Amino acid sequence: MYYPEDLIEEIRIQNNIVDVVSEHVQLKKKGSSYFGLCPFHNEKTPSFSVSEEKQMYYCFGCGACGNVYTFVMEYENYTFLEAVKYLADRAHITLPTPELSEAVKRKIEYKQQLMEVNREAARYFYYQLYSERGNKALTYLDNRGITETLRKKFGLGYSNVYRNDLYQYLTKQNYSKQVIFDAGLTNKDKKQENTYHDRFWNRVMFPILDVHSHVIGFGGRVLGDGNPKYLNSPETKLFEKSRNLYALNIARTSRKSNILMVEGYMDVIALHQAGFNNAVASLGTALTGGHAKLLKRYTDEVIIAYDSDEAGINATLRAIPILEAEQLSVRVLHLGEYKDPDEFIQNNEPKAFEKLLETAEPSFIYQIQRLETNYRLKDPVHKTRFVNEIAKLLLRIESDIERDNFMETIIEKYSINQSSMKKLIADIGKNTGIISQKKNNQPKTKKKPSEDGLFLAQKTLLTLITDKKNLYTVIKDHLKPEEFTDDLCQRAASYIYNSYEQGQKIVPATLINHFTELAEQTKMASIFNHKVAYKHPLQLEKIVNESIKKIKLSNIEALSRSIEKTIELQKLILAKRELEHLHISLNDG
Ligand code: GTP
Ligand code: MN
Repeated sequence: MYYPEDLIEEIRIQNNIVDVVSEHVQLKKKGSSYFGLCPFHNEKTPSFSVSEEKQMYYCFGCGACGNVYTFVMEYENYTFLEAVKYLADRAHITLPTPELSEAVKRKIEYKQQLMEVNREAARYFYYQLYSERGNKALTYLDNRGITETLRKKFGLGYSNVYRNDLYQYLTKQNYSKQVIFDAGLTNKDKKQENTYHDRFWNRVMFPILDVHSHVIGFGGRVLGDGNPKYLNSPETKLFEKSRNLYALNIARTSRKSNILMVEGYMDVIALHQAGFNNAVASLGTALTGGHAKLLKRYTDEVIIAYDSDEAGINATLRAIPILEAEQLSVRVLHLGEYKDPDEFIQNNEPKAFEKLLETAEPSFIYQIQRLETNYRLKDPVHKTRFVNEIAKLLLRIESDIERDNFMETIIEKYSINQSSMKKLIADIGKNTGIISQKKNNQPKTKKKPSEDGLFLAQKTLLTLITDKKNLYTVIKDHLKPEEFTDDLCQRAASYIYNSYEQGQKIVPATLINHFTELAEQTKMASIFNHKVAYKHPLQLEKIVNESIKKIKLSNIEALSRSIEKTIELQKLILAKRELEHLHISLNDG
């Protein structure tokens, strides 16, 4: 954690969740809570509730829940640190600047300078586009159907025909030659020392922004035909091509459930113009694992819509496993007769693209289709090889149900015998070691229902002791925090036990501050949004006893798996017997 806990807590308290949520969702007071339409799923009747007292939100429809940090993280796609900064700013709280070494400080300052000079260049290009010299660039953009709104939104500009125009402008603004060069805006003269020329001239300029909307580089397109068609900024300290995506600063705030991955700047702009503000492009490089990680921060599904030529198909086939390695689900769009999304948009209504998106195919089906083109399926040898490749692809699908479903579709389509296919998968799996891994996992997946029951037991007890201190005083003697088997539950238990022992109130919203990942915060919040239903005190007693027994039994079983000596085993058997006779009465509590 970068900031002290007290500060994180102070920022949380200074940002009333009702006010923060109200900035994005219309809320109506009903009883002790506020209700509105959930911003995290589509709905017509409000099931999103915000409790002022608890400083938490909860959606009865989709289960979204958390404190004010969780809300900002989920709504703005922020990391925890970004949420802290945002909320501190909102409450006019100044965050302390972290202690940094001189070297780190200089590095940050230098990056800052590179950003500034890039921004200044972007302004200059923008200004040039609207000057007389920029007329032909403006006409070019007009002819390609880019409206003024979109030109402004993407900050498009023009680098004019003079070869050191920008350089002179920037040096007049007191930027050093070195900084201008390091930002990738100039080239060194090959013959004359200490002489620089503009890198970009006579091109339409596309500023490239990082997710925080800093200008980190440029793409420049020739007006009409010429080579290279696109010239991009080189890699710099600021511009890491494998860690940035064009237009992600906009796409990340899109309310759409997926991100569209396209090849070119122009595809992105055309799609945004048609209302698909979730389109991004890699920056003239192939997609990397860094891109995939970045995308995963903002979405769970990527639709690839690369050019329909061979290069686009190959790039798609390369991108699929890279994205899937980050647990992104991937679909692929067929553009039909159109060469790229830009061309599709220029020739069709946005509605048609919307329709097309619905036909985007799961990556698995797409890969099989591409594979098929390599084989003559009438030839038994070819068909055997083809079936082998299918089996390998099937093995890559982790979920059993999904694998079975795809297998069914495929064996029907290509008339493959089902039991042969199953055997083939098993054989390949064994040879490559995939199956043996899966076998080890199997008991785990089979046990899932009882594991869920175990989690529910822990959640139930945590909810009960949070709501009722007198239950805590009884339960604490029978169950220690370290006996909770789930990591988050264990941390929640420690917090609750500690707070009670120190005579403090339990504030779930505070506990959530301790977690920096959205998934953890949500899981933690769900623990406290849990309702334990019972009608009679005896029913409650039963729930408490069964929950405690379940947790203790699970601990005993875990221990017995690791025990070697008989004497220890006997102790465990004894403990198990004792557990069977355990009965906690709540009356005297
Ligand atoms: P338009 O012809 O303007 O519609 O281009 P496009 O959007 O169809 O782009 P294209 O499919 O030709 O290229 C996709 C992306 O690859 C571009 O956005 C650039 O990032 C990159 N690119 C294209 N041509 C070149 C080139 O000549 N050099 C470099 N470095 N990158 C290029
Ligand atoms: Mn194009």
